[in-house]
Formats: sequence, C-alpha cells, structure tokens
Amino acid sequence: MINVIGLGYIGLPTALMLSVSDNEVIGTDFNEKLVKTLQNGKLTFEENGLDQLFSEALKKGIEFSTEYVSTDKYIITVPTPYDKDNKKIDPSYVIQAVNSVLEVCKENTLLIIESTVSPGTIDKYVRPEIEKSNFELGKTIHLIHAPERILPGNMIHELKFNSRTIGADSIEQGNKVKEIYKTFCESDIAVTDIKTAEMSKVIENTYRDINIAFANELAKICRFDDMDVYEIIKVANMHPRVNILTPGPGVGGHCISVDPWFLVGDYPELTNIISTARHINDSMPDFVLKRLSEIMIENGITDRNKVGIYGLTYKQDVDDTRESPSLQLFDSMKKHLASPLKSYDPMIKDKIVENQIMSFDEFLEDLDIVVVMVSHSHIKENLDKISNKIIFDTQNIIPNGIKL
Ligand SMILES: NC(=O)c1ccc[n+]([C@@H]2O[C@H](COP(=O)([O-])OP(=O)(O)OC[C@H]3O[C@@H](n4cnc5c(N)ncnc54)[C@H](O)[C@@H]3O)[C@@H](O)[C@H]2O)c1
Repeated sequence: MINVIGLGYIGLPTALMLSVSDNEVIGTDFNEKLVKTLQNGKLTFEENGLDQLFSEALKKGIEFSTEYVSTDKYIITVPTPYDKDNKKIDPSYVIQAVNSVLEVCKENTLLIIESTVSPGTIDKYVRPEIEKSNFELGKTIHLIHAPERILPGNMIHELKFNSRTIGADSIEQGNKVKEIYKTFCESDIAVTDIKTAEMSKVIENTYRDINIAFANELAKICRFDDMDVYEIIKVANMHPRVNILTPGPGVGGHCISVDPWFLVGDYPELTNIISTARHINDSMPDFVLKRLSEIMIENGITDRNKVGIYGLTYKQDVDDTRESPSLQLFDSMKKHLASPLKSYDPMIKDKIVENQIMSFDEFLEDLDIVVVMVSHSHIKENLDKISNKIIFDTQNIIPNGIKL
C-alpha cells in the first residue's frame, strides 16, 4: 500500500493515477477541510480530466485521511517554498512530513520525496532526521527523490507520457521505485543519484525561467525603440537553431518563479544569469503598469475605475493563483498606496482580492480598458463582449489588442 502525503496540485493527481493503475493507495493531508471534501467525493481544484480520474480511483478504492498510515511505501508531495529574505529553500514541510512517516512506517520502507528540493537538501535536512530515528538508512529505510515535471492544465496526460527521474542511494532501490512509477508512466525513467535528481529538477525550471526572461527583455528593448517584438521573434525563430519564447506579464506559479531562487540563495557568487533572469521576470508586472499608464494617457483616460484586470491565475485555464503576475501587480500598486484595480477571473470562484468582480458582464460594465493578463480560453470565446473596449493584451492573443 502506498501512502501519498500532501494532496495538493501534485499529490492528488499522483495518488489518483497510482490508484487507477492498480496500486492500493491512501492519500493523507493535514488539511482537514481538504480531506473532508475528497472523502465527500468532491475535487479540491480544477484540472483537465481530473473528474474522470477521481471517479475511477474512487471505484478502485482510494481512501483519504488526515492520518499517516503504517505501510512501507510513502510518496511525499508537500510544499517547498523559499524564504523570501535569504532566498533559500524552506524545508520545514518536508522535514515535518518525514518525521510523521518515521513515527508509523514499517521496516524496509521506501521513503520517496517528490517535492522539488534544492541540491543537497536531502543530505542536509532529511538524512539527519532519519539518523536520529530507530531506522538505518540503506538497510531498514531507503531514501528516494522522484521529482515531478507535470504541467498544470495538462497534468493527466503528462503524468502518463513525461519521462521522469529517480534519484536513489542504490540502483536496486531506485529500480524498485521505478517499477511503482512504471505502473502508470509510459515514458523513460532515468535512475540516478539523489543530488543529481535534485539539481536536474531545479535547473529544468531555471532553464525555463532564463528563456522567458530573454523574451521579456526583448519586449522591453522593442518597446523602448518602437519595434514589434512578436514579429521579430517570429522571424528569428525561422532560424533552424533558434527558439525564442513569448514575452508576457511575468512568471508565477509554485515552480518556475520559486526554484531558481534556491540556486541564487545557495550559490550567490555563481548565479549571475539565474539571478538576473529572476529579477527581469519579477519586473514585468511593473512594466505592465508603466505601459498601462502610457496607454491611459494616450487614450485620455484618467479614471482608474475605467480599467479592469482580466485574469488572476498564473497561467491559462487553471485556478492556481500562487505568485501570479496579477497578484504581483496588485502588490506593486499597494506599495504606492493604491488599492487593486477592478479584476475578474473566470477560473476563480471565491473572492481573493479587493475589487474582484465575480461576473464577467458586471466586470465589463463602465470599463474603457481591459488588461488581459491571462490567456484563458474564456476570453478567446468572448471576444465579441470586449470588442468595444481598448484591450491591453499582454499575452498577444487578441486581434487588434495593444501589445506589451
Ligand atoms: N504545482 C506544480 O505545478 C508542481 C509541479 C512540479 C513539482 N511541484 C512540486 O511539488 C510539491 C508540491 O507542490 P503542490 O503544488 O502540490 O503544493 P500544494 O500546496 O498544492 O499541496 C501541498 C499539500 O501538502 C499538504 N501538507 C503540507 N505539509 C503536510 C504534512 N506535513 N503532512 C500532510 N500534508 C501536508 C498541504 O495541506 C497541501 O494540501 C512542491 O515541492 C512543488 O515545488 C509542483
């Protein structure tokens, strides 16, 4: 039986996938409300295809609990935020989960950490906890790091078809864990050592962050000298070895906007590009605000109540708002003692910011400018409703919108 610890955006789909692939699974989370919701047969977030996977897993007998279960296989998928002051990983959730496992696990346990961690975290913070316990590393308990690569919005497909990495102290234990993931993963699974698995996961997200920062810097240069960044990227990408990404209003989410900081915090003297890329991407919400004020002046609009922000999530068609560019934008406004502009997001069912409007039609009432921060399918399907507005399109999806 596998006990999946932490039933958030990663843990829940993973637990469901394991369950429908004929593994006996119990999912544990210390959030009572979340566990109750799942026990009542309701999902806790929206994701393409998750409904169906959930009902299949329920039929297979998956259970949810606030208790850790006594077994010999655990997958830990708890958060790994970073400390915003020193930029280092905050390993406290992982340490707490590991200690809770140690209280109940059986001899010969596979303790799999899926949470993204900075290189050396398992050596520095997890091994000492096990050494303090009655278990012996490599004999009665085996530590594994199996980071996750799935993309929110396409999680179910990617759980099946993405390749994976497993870091272990021995090939034998790594292969045992590979067999577990092989029950649902149809792609290659590399078995390597733990620090390589930690570092490779973090640099995958860092690579994405740097490439997005390059596109964002191009957007700034092109705006400064009146060039069309999208046309320029389109032309440059015709080169067979060039693939520039698309600029945007910033980078959010729990991964790309967080993990590169782990490296900056741990290797401050060696991370010039990584740190600069983070700062460029973090500067984009302010760039959007500056551009918005230019657009307001150009159109003779002085009343901020005539401006609305469309999209609060960090990417399209998901309901996750963590570190999102829109929330960063509102934070920036707050620093200048300004309350958030009117906003609307079709994916968000509860009010999370001041001035958030819950109906699209009501949001559009009296607006002159709509700032499109997120390219939800919803806006593409409702272009007729915004055709009489000035659209500041930070995502380059609206024909005739004003670009970044
Ligand atoms: N979200 C993504 O797209 C993504 C992709 C790849 C990797 N990751 C990594 O996966 C990990 C989990 O991320 P997430 O987005 O699923 O986080 P999340 O915040 O959505 O979910 C984490 C869950 O863990 C629970 N939890 C925390 N500590 C616990 C404990 N000690 N015992 C039981 N439950 C506990 C929380 O209540 C929460 O429900 C992170 O390390 C993240 O970096 C996330």
